Amino acid sequence: MKDVENIKPIIRWAGGKSWLTRSIDEYLPSDFNNYFEPFLGGGAMYFYLKSNNKILGNSYLSDINRNLINAYKQVKSNLEPLIQELDKHVNSKDYYYDIRSTIFNNKIENASKFLYLNRTSFNGIYRENLKGEYNVPYGFKIYKELFDFENLAKASKLLKGTYLSVSDFKPRLNKPSDSDLVFIDPPYTVAHSKNGFIKYNQKIFKWEDQKDLNRTIDTLTKRGVFVILTNAFHESISKLYSSNLNQIEISRSSQVGGIGAKRGEVKEYIFTNF
Ligand SMILES: C[S@@+](CC[C@H](N)C(=O)[O-])C[C@H]1O[C@@H](n2cnc3c(N)ncnc32)[C@H](O)[C@@H]1O
Repeated sequence: MKDVENIKPIIRWAGGKSWLTRSIDEYLPSDFNNYFEPFLGGGAMYFYLKSNNKILGNSYLSDINRNLINAYKQVKSNLEPLIQELDKHVNSKDYYYDIRSTIFNNKIENASKFLYLNRTSFNGIYRENLKGEYNVPYGFKIYKELFDFENLAKASKLLKGTYLSVSDFKPRLNKPSDSDLVFIDPPYTVAHSKNGFIKYNQKIFKWEDQKDLNRTIDTLTKRGVFVILTNAFHESISKLYSSNLNQIEISRSSQVGGIGAKRGEVKEYIFTNF
């Protein structure tokens, strides 16, 4: 498997877990069978585990975002025509807004649009308005090469043996059985948050969903499934999950933006059931 080593995620994603892949080995079960990642996003954990031969069985990757999953599916199965489409893109403000407002009915063109916007939008954020239209502004990011086709080809090869689906986490988590591993990285919603994002947060992943997730993890534990959960460093999260899971505090350094940007320490929780 030498030719599929060191594969980087192909999508920039808010809450991406590349930083955690550097220390995840100490939290993994000694071996496991199938791998499930039901909040896939940029899939940093999958790309790390799969390209380092740590997944013995099949990989089941899913996310509720259908445009995201379509992009992975086209990278997996239609790489050549997709690259032809990606090659047509230009990194400029006017072109960006043109593409952003164009509706494509073809899955390859749609994936090409998704990957282009992900690369050139502000911070690679994915956000839709109430009409379901992507509304992130242009990012003014300068690249030597807009796309890393070599990495994309390696990712395509890696993805060949995986199952990709659009799904809410709950039905997806009926499938894992004894000795499978589930890596769960949900949106970081907390209870009683006073921050300005509460309305937006509640719409996409409510506190009720965190409670539902906790109950789902209980059923996984009873079936002998290994679970690793990441979540916000917040007392409501600790209270919800720590009664039935092992709680670990983990720090990562993060760039604090603005004038005089500096490095700051951000804490997150990891919970395991083994
Ligand atoms: C924190 S991100 C995951 C980041 C990912 N681990 C990475 O390394 O990039 C959370 C993901 O959960 C997805 N999501 C939100 N609500 C969901 C739900 N109810 N079921 C499944 N996926 C959901 C979002 O689309 C988003 O991609």
